[in-house]
Amino acid sequence: MGLTIQSKVTLNSGVEMPVFGLGVWQVPPGAPTRKSVASALECGYRLVDTAKLYANEEDVGAVLRERGLPRDEVFVTTKLWNSDHGYESTLKACEASLGRLGLPWVDLYLVHWPVPGARKDTWRAMERILKEGKARAIGVSNYMVPHLEELLASCDVVPAVNQFELSPFLYQKGLIEFCRKQGIAVEAYSPLTKGNRLGDRRLKEVSARYRKTPAQLLIRWGLQHGIIEIPRSTRPDHIRENAQVFDFEISPEDMRVLDSFDEGVHYAWDPTGKP
Ligand SMILES: NC(=O)c1ccc[n+]([C@@H]2O[C@H](COP(=O)([O-])OP(=O)(O)OC[C@H]3O[C@@H](n4cnc5c(N)ncnc54)[C@H](OP(=O)(O)O)[C@@H]3O)[C@@H](O)[C@H]2O)c1
Repeated sequence: MGLTIQSKVTLNSGVEMPVFGLGVWQVPPGAPTRKSVASALECGYRLVDTAKLYANEEDVGAVLRERGLPRDEVFVTTKLWNSDHGYESTLKACEASLGRLGLPWVDLYLVHWPVPGARKDTWRAMERILKEGKARAIGVSNYMVPHLEELLASCDVVPAVNQFELSPFLYQKGLIEFCRKQGIAVEAYSPLTKGNRLGDRRLKEVSARYRKTPAQLLIRWGLQHGIIEIPRSTRPDHIRENAQVFDFEISPEDMRVLDSFDEGVHYAWDPTGKP
C-alpha cells in the first residue's frame, strides 16, 4: 500500500511512529508555536518534534490539550538537552519536560547530542525512563557511527531512533545503513536544508516534472527512502503544502538524480568527527 499521512513505522520497541510530522525548532514560544502546531494538526499531522532547547514544550502541550485529541493520537517527541546529561539529571530533566508538556509520558525521548563523558550514565537513565513508562521509546540524535558503536557496546536497550540531518544535499548513506542494520529507525532533521537549497536549479527542474514544489520533493525523497520527515514551518500555507506529498511518487530515475545532489554540507549542526 502507498504512503499516506497516517503511515507509521514500527520501532524496535514495538511502538508505532508516524513517518511524517512537524518540527518546531526556532519557532518562538507562545503564539507562533501554538499557531504552527494547531495548523499542522488541522492538516492531519500526528507527530510533533520539540525539545527542551526549543523552549516551546508548554505551547505544544497546550495545543494538544485545547484540541482534546486522545493522548494516543498524537506522537510527541522531546529531547534531553546537553546541560542535563548524567544519571540523576537526566531523570530530572525528563520529569521537567513532562511537566512543561503537561503529559504523563512522551512517545519518544531523545538524547539531543552525544555529549562526551556523561553519555553512558545518561543512557542508563534513559533506559529507566523507558522502563517506568515516562517515554514509550527512547533514542538519540546527532549520533554518528562511532557514537552508536560505543553505545551499542554497553546498552541494554538499543535506541529506537537516530535523528540527524538528512536531505539529498546531505545523504548520509553510510550512517543510514548502519542504523538500519542495528534496527534503529532513521529520522531526518532539517529535511528542507533550513530553506537554503529550495532554490537549487536542478531541484526545481525535478519538482516541475511532478508539478510539485522543491520542499515537497525533498520531503517525498526522504519518505521514499523510508526516512521519518519532520519539516518545520510557521506559515499555515507551507504547513499545508508540506503535507501534500502523499499523492505522487518520484520515479526511480529521479530518486537517483536527487541522490546525486549529495554535497556533504550541514545546514544545522555537524557532529562528524566529534568525540
Ligand atoms: N535533533 C537536532 O539536533 C535537530 C536539529 C535541527 C532540526 N531538528 C528538528 O527538525 C525540524 C526541521 O528542521 P529545521 O527546523 O532545521 O529546518 P527545515 O525543516 O529543514 O526548514 C525550515 C525552513 O524552511 C522553510 N519552509 C518550510 N516549508 C517551506 C515551504 N513549503 N516552502 C518554502 N519554505 C519552506 C521555513 O520557513 P517558513 O516558516 O517561512 O515556512 C524554514 O525557514 C526542526 O524544527 C526540529 O524539530 C532537530
